[in-house]
Amino acid sequence: MKRIVSGIKPTGELTIGNYLGAMKRWAEMEVENNESLYFVANLHAITVRQDSFELRKRTFDVVAWLLTCGVNPDKSLIFIQSMIPAHSEICWVLTNFVTIGELGKMTQFKDKVSKSSKDGQLAGLFEYPVLMAGDVLLYDADEVPVGDDQIQHLELTRNIANRFNNLYGQTFKEPKGTISKSTSRIMSLKNPDTKMSKSETEDSYIALQDKPDIIIKKFKRAVTDSDNTVKFDMEKKPAISNLLNIYSGFSGKSVDDIEKDYMNEGYGKFKTELGELVAGKLEIMQKKFSELREDEEQLMKVVLKGNAGANDIANKKVSEVFEKLGLVYHRY
Ligand code: TYM
Repeated sequence: MKRIVSGIKPTGELTIGNYLGAMKRWAEMEVENNESLYFVANLHAITVRQDSFELRKRTFDVVAWLLTCGVNPDKSLIFIQSMIPAHSEICWVLTNFVTIGELGKMTQFKDKVSKSSKDGQLAGLFEYPVLMAGDVLLYDADEVPVGDDQIQHLELTRNIANRFNNLYGQTFKEPKGTISKSTSRIMSLKNPDTKMSKSETEDSYIALQDKPDIIIKKFKRAVTDSDNTVKFDMEKKPAISNLLNIYSGFSGKSVDDIEKDYMNEGYGKFKTELGELVAGKLEIMQKKFSELREDEEQLMKVVLKGNAGANDIANKKVSEVFEKLGLVYHRY
C-alpha cells in the first residue's frame, strides 16, 4: 500500500498550473492499493494577509474544485488543515528540528522577500516549509504529488524526518515528492522563464474560472519563439514547449503526436486550437464546479468525513512524537 498526501492553498484564483501540476494527478492517483489524503492548506494561506470572508469562501471553493477535478471522497480523505489540530502541534515540534540557515535557503522564501527587506517579513512565511513538513510527516506519506516549485520543501521535509529519527528512533517515514514529466512546471504565457502564477499579471495565466472567450484570447496573445514551427525544445523554444505541455495535459495526447498533427502548420492555428481545447474542457468543469459549490452543506459533509479519517491518523502520530520527546500529552 502506498499513502499519497498533498495540499493546496486557498489563496487567489486557481490556475491551470495548479490543475495540471497537482489536482488532475491527485485524481489519477486514486488507484487500488493507494490511500490518499488531500487537503486545503488554509493555515499556509495566512502567511500572507487574507480577507477573512474571502479565505473561508475560497476554502470551500477548493473543496468543490477538488471534486470537480475528479477527486473521489469515497476513495480519498478530503480535509481542511485548520480543522486538524495536529498540524499546528507538530509544526511547533518540527520547528526545533530545522535551522534558520536551512529555512533561509528555501528559494520560495527568497523569491518572496527579494522585493522587500527580509527583516519586515512575517515569521510565518519563513516557517512555511516546517508547517508543510508536518502536513506530510503526520501521515507517513510515501508520495507527495506536487509541482516542481515544492520539491525543495520536500527535500527539507526528508531532512527533518531523518534528523528526528536519528535522535528519537524511527518515527517518520521519509516522503518522496513526485512530479509529472511534462506538466510539473507550467510557465507564464507572457514570460516562459517564470512559473505560471496567480500573482502575476492576468494575461499571463489561465484561471480555472476564466470564460471561454478570455481563454481563447489569452492563448492567441501568448508569446511564442522566433521561428514558426510547432516543435518541442525546452531550451531554444521555451514558449512553444510550454504550450505543447499544456496541450498534452488537456488532450491526453503525447507531445510527439501533437507535433506531428501540427507539422505543417504555423503558430496561429496551433494557438487557436489550443485555446478552443482548454476553453471547452474548462467550460464543462466550470458547470460542474457551480453545481457542487452551491451545496455547501454537502461539501461540509465531505470534509467532515475526511477530517475524521485524517484526525485519527494524525493524532496517533502526535501522541507518539510527544511521548518520545517527554512532552506530557493528553487529547481531551
Ligand atoms: P500551491 O497552493 O501554491 O499550489 C498547489 C499545487 O499546484 C502546483 N503548482 C503548479 N504546478 C505546475 N505548474 C505551475 N505553474 C504550478 N503552480 C502551482 C504546486 O506545486 C502545488 O503542488 N505549499 C503548497 C501547499 C502545501 C502542500 C503541503 C503541498 C501545503 N502543505 C503538503 C504538498 C504537501 C503550495 O503552496 O501549493
